[in-house]
Amino acid sequence: MIPSEFIDELLAKVDIVDIIDEHVPLKKGGANYMACCPFHKEKSPSFSVSPQKQFYHCFGCGAHGTAIGFIMEYQGLSFTEAVQYLADRTGLTVPRTHARQDNPEQRAERKKKQQTLEETTEAAAAFYRGRLKQDARAQEYLHKRGLSAEIIEHYGLGYAPDGWQPLAQVFQPYPNTPLVESGMVVEKDGKHYDRFRDRIMFPIRNPRGQVIGFGARVLDKGEPKYLNSPETPLFDKGRNLYGLHESRAAIKEAGRILVVEGYMDVVALAQFGIGYGVAALGTATTAEHVKILMRQTDSIYFCFDGDRAGRKAAWRALENALPQLKDGKTLHFLFLPEEHDPDSYIRAYGKAQFEDALLNQSKPLSAYFWEQLSDGLNLNTQEGKAELVKTSAPLLAQITAPALSFLLKQELGDKVGIDPANLARLLGQEAPKQHVKQKSYKLPQETFRQPQMSTLVERQIRSLLINPAWAAYIELPEYLNLSGDFACLANLAELINSRKEPPGSAQILEHMRGTPHEATVSRIFQNMQHGAEELESSSEEDCESFKLGMKKLLNELKYAQIEMLKQKNRQGGLSESEKKLLLALLTPAAH
Ligand code: UTP
Ligand code: MN
Repeated sequence: MIPSEFIDELLAKVDIVDIIDEHVPLKKGGANYMACCPFHKEKSPSFSVSPQKQFYHCFGCGAHGTAIGFIMEYQGLSFTEAVQYLADRTGLTVPRTHARQDNPEQRAERKKKQQTLEETTEAAAAFYRGRLKQDARAQEYLHKRGLSAEIIEHYGLGYAPDGWQPLAQVFQPYPNTPLVESGMVVEKDGKHYDRFRDRIMFPIRNPRGQVIGFGARVLDKGEPKYLNSPETPLFDKGRNLYGLHESRAAIKEAGRILVVEGYMDVVALAQFGIGYGVAALGTATTAEHVKILMRQTDSIYFCFDGDRAGRKAAWRALENALPQLKDGKTLHFLFLPEEHDPDSYIRAYGKAQFEDALLNQSKPLSAYFWEQLSDGLNLNTQEGKAELVKTSAPLLAQITAPALSFLLKQELGDKVGIDPANLARLLGQEAPKQHVKQKSYKLPQETFRQPQMSTLVERQIRSLLINPAWAAYIELPEYLNLSGDFACLANLAELINSRKEPPGSAQILEHMRGTPHEATVSRIFQNMQHGAEELESSSEEDCESFKLGMKKLLNELKYAQIEMLKQKNRQGGLSESEKKLLLALLTPAAH
């Protein structure tokens, strides 16, 4: 794992203009540099590089990112490889957890810190386990969801009691540095309180079995449904899978691993005798996840929810898997009926039928690949065939596994009726060697880019990304229920405000990598299409309208929450805390 401070330092050292110019000659145009986009075909330049913001953005296809992102996309490297590439050029040494270069004192220091953090999360997990045993309501919730004491124990589930500082019962002094650094305690306006309150706790362990973070579910209704530990020196979401440690024996025994979406899916499957499930941690399945999965066993199954989001997640997993594929490793995708997730499915149909579906109804990667790409195309027409070649070429180009690559190309040849030699020529043209694209390959029905009206919250996020210092004007009271884009905005503000100095735009972009908000930020960038001036820092006037925008958002949020509470009041009455909340919301703010 590369520490995020190093990423910040690296981005501050390299100049994105130099880096990109070496690959794609740039021309100065106003405050930015322009070129024809290397990620899609175009005649007039809409690819823009901002020296000030240190990122690139294509107003044609929406491709965007930092210097690291550019190298990853253009050279087809992994994140770590791209960081290494840039570090080599700037003479920096990439620090690793086990780097030999650093001196023994530093290493001892880091190890000690790591240990303290581990002890903290471990002690917190023990506390939560203990509290579950004492709390009838939490126990009843888990029993209602069909979990036995044995499974609760196997996964070390717990309960974080309500109140602001329950962890003060085990940690003195409260707060202390490890509590904050491990993400167990958050600070706001100089006050400290537990991140997890009144939630079912799913401890997330690393492969060695140490607790590195938590997923936490509300007992009843509430937002967010799941709250997760933030990224910490211990916890890297893109490189850990929930349940991997717990499922190790079952994976060996079954000879396969099953990737699902949710914590609850993993645990419920185990309850019904399928112990080889794991879940990505509220993020997409990353290339790194795929690497880890392939290290466990030869047969990998993905089973995502039957809804639209699940199908999207499956395609995303396939995309990220392509460069990692190895001959001899098989990937399968099982699609459940729309209304089911693995938890509800196994509950309804049992282990035997689930495994039968897994083995006999799942699609091998190749079948799923062609099915998705051909969806909506008429392969009896020249146009349909041409489209299939076009959409599959850049994806095929990412596959390095020799046999699989050959077979898939052969299959494409059969589908479009082109002989191998001509097809190779065609693919070569369509897919330049270094062409690794993710952006333009979403689910096929979405391949066209819709111009979208951006919402206020999207515009606020965009302004904040361009002007990080404006985070100072964001105040989102704790009692507001934030989700979706609002949660993203709050998260960005928290990230920026937690620093002494506001980080640069590029640094922020990299911090979002692998977090649940990555997709939101990405979408907002993609929808930026007015022109290069959007990348430049904004005027004082813009700042005023940003502040106004925040006021408006806050009012909207409060109003929505008041309406929700009022409606609830009409329907069934409010709890004491909800009454207090409503009162607070209705009282005009002092400021
Ligand atoms: P789901 O919403 O599908 O929940 O989220 P689930 O797994 O079916 O959970 P139950 O059965 O309702 O309890 C799937 C996963 O997405 C992440 C979590 O990792 C969750 O397990 N997630 C979801 C979040 O991180 N935050 C959320 O608010 C919701
Ligand atoms: Mn569920």
